[in-house]
Amino acid sequence: MKTLTIAVIAGDGVGVEVIPPAKRVLEKVARLYDVAFAFQDFDWGSQHYFRWGHMMPAGALDLLSPCDAILLGAVGHPDIPDHTTLNGLLLPIRRAFDQYANVRPAFLYPGVTSPLAKPRGGDIDFVVVRENTEGEYAQVGGFVYQHQPEEIAIQTSVFTRRGIERIVRFAFELAVKRGKKRRVTSVTKSNAQGYSMVLWDRVFDEVAAGYPGIETESLLVDAAAMNFIRRPESFDVVVGSNLFCDILSDISAIIIGSMGLAASANLDPERRFPSMFEPVHGSVPDIAGQGVVNPLAAILSASMMLDHLGLSDAAVKVERAVAGVLAEGKVRTRDLGGTSSTEEVAAAVLEKIA
Ligand SMILES: NC(=O)c1ccc[n+]([C@@H]2O[C@H](COP(=O)([O-])OP(=O)(O)OC[C@H]3O[C@@H](n4cnc5c(N)ncnc54)[C@H](O)[C@@H]3O)[C@@H](O)[C@H]2O)c1
Repeated sequence: MKTLTIAVIAGDGVGVEVIPPAKRVLEKVARLYDVAFAFQDFDWGSQHYFRWGHMMPAGALDLLSPCDAILLGAVGHPDIPDHTTLNGLLLPIRRAFDQYANVRPAFLYPGVTSPLAKPRGGDIDFVVVRENTEGEYAQVGGFVYQHQPEEIAIQTSVFTRRGIERIVRFAFELAVKRGKKRRVTSVTKSNAQGYSMVLWDRVFDEVAAGYPGIETESLLVDAAAMNFIRRPESFDVVVGSNLFCDILSDISAIIIGSMGLAASANLDPERRFPSMFEPVHGSVPDIAGQGVVNPLAAILSASMMLDHLGLSDAAVKVERAVAGVLAEGKVRTRDLGGTSSTEEVAAAVLEKIA
């Protein structure tokens, strides 16, 4: 029997509530597909920061490196600046392991109500592909005259031909693999950002030329935001920069009914390093500790992990279990209009897997 080693960082807030159900689902499905998971739990995050002054220890990346994949809950604490938590844990992992493709599916499950009036179950079905290692989050810049009245902050975006080319190619390959609307939408702001985004447009066109069977569309990010609301059913694969798709994927998460249903993968498509799987949501401090957070985003992220690890039948089994629970509509957390607890939702999914 094959054993896969999974590094688990439950992290902060609701991370410690949604990761245990995701692990239980993985354990259950593993038994059906003759595979075993060896979980290595790392108690990194804000509590580690309070104790030691950093979010994860020196050498953390060396501990993660030999693992087959990483499962992450969330990071973020009301008493620590968000740029400290993000730059202390999440972004270093994404960069060190060259997880350049951040994949965020947006699917409106039958039985779930979108805040938009028109779409019904299945009408929204697209994937946001976010460049995950450079762009606006390259963390290049600095302060001059810091904390002085005349202080200056400079934050530089980094766009490389290599970085754009590989994420755009990933998006086209995904459109081919999905075999659905066969459409890739590129999101930029090249009317106002005349260097980086113009390079993006040019590289997008070059890559698109190699995929004559895939329809293309280029939208400015403001128009994309509007069209995510106006015609979400028209999208198939949407590709854009780190910042733009970070924002757009919160829109895509809420139009499918809840942030609590939005899963994501941080992939190294070349498989040189472990990829990382995490719900799109953060530490959700407003309801953390109450046992009412929706665990489905974390469970669906675990399903994406199964798919990446070559266990596509197991991935489909988990997704169908989630879809079944949502379609029945009996067991659901508050964010979906229900009254069930995190544990009750997890139990319903586990029962469906059996
Ligand atoms: N990847 C990450 O770890 C990540 C991502 C986003 C935000 N954060 C951090 O999380 C903290 C809180 O950020 P935020 O409030 O902007 O975003 P958030 O995603 O934590 O929560 C936003 C809102 O969405 C709802 N929500 C989200 N997930 C839910 C779920 N599973 N079940 C039920 N309701 C859910 C809640 O109403 C919540 O108030 C901050 O410190 C932020 O930096 C971390």
